[in-house]
Amino acid sequence: MKLLITAGPTREPLDPVRFLSNRSSGKMGYALAEEAAARGHEVTLISGPVALQPPKNAQVVRVVTAADMLAAVKLHLKKCDVLIMAAAVADWRPARVGKRKMKKGGAQRLTLELQPTPDILKSIGKLKGRRIFVGFAAETHNLRAEAKRKLREKNLDLIVANDVTVPGAGFEVETNCVTIFDAQSEEQWPLLAKRDVAERILDRIEDLGKF
Ligand code: C5P
Repeated sequence: MKLLITAGPTREPLDPVRFLSNRSSGKMGYALAEEAAARGHEVTLISGPVALQPPKNAQVVRVVTAADMLAAVKLHLKKCDVLIMAAAVADWRPARVGKRKMKKGGAQRLTLELQPTPDILKSIGKLKGRRIFVGFAAETHNLRAEAKRKLREKNLDLIVANDVTVPGAGFEVETNCVTIFDAQSEEQWPLLAKRDVAERILDRIEDLGKF
């Protein structure tokens, strides 16, 4: 099958030297891309800025902002059967981007005005067709309710949710502890290496697609 996978954070510039971002390392998305390519699937990986080696046998498209990532997903989705949104897309971006470096100027306080970034999954909902869409949810509370809401609202076939407050799960680490939901069921997996989580996710996708 042909997979489009997103990974890593996005960066939302504030001025030429500063940006807003998050703690995503990209490891989960890169593990999915490595595993899918090793299984012989055709993989396009859209990656935010990360410090990882590109996966073998995958086409890598590098992006910076949420808007760049949306444009790249739209461009590459047409030729794909499966979209896995493992990227931690920034939810907010500065409403104004300075052309010049912002100066302290002796100020005691600075208030930033932010605006929402585009929600990639919601923006491409109409392009889904018969494709399989898989999302991720990194939560600190109400994991089950949030995962089920996102599954429904983002028109997903599967969502992989993890509580980022659990040691060894989520951002920056080599392991993850996730619960996977579809519309009917949920399955909690033990703490596993991200590559093992990737294997199990791909097993579920291959079952869905009967590829
Ligand atoms: O940020 P949130 O928890 O809503 O993310 C859930 C899913 O939606 C993830 O798969 C993420 O990649 C995706 N997402 C997106 N566009 C955004 C924010 C998140 O497609 N702006």
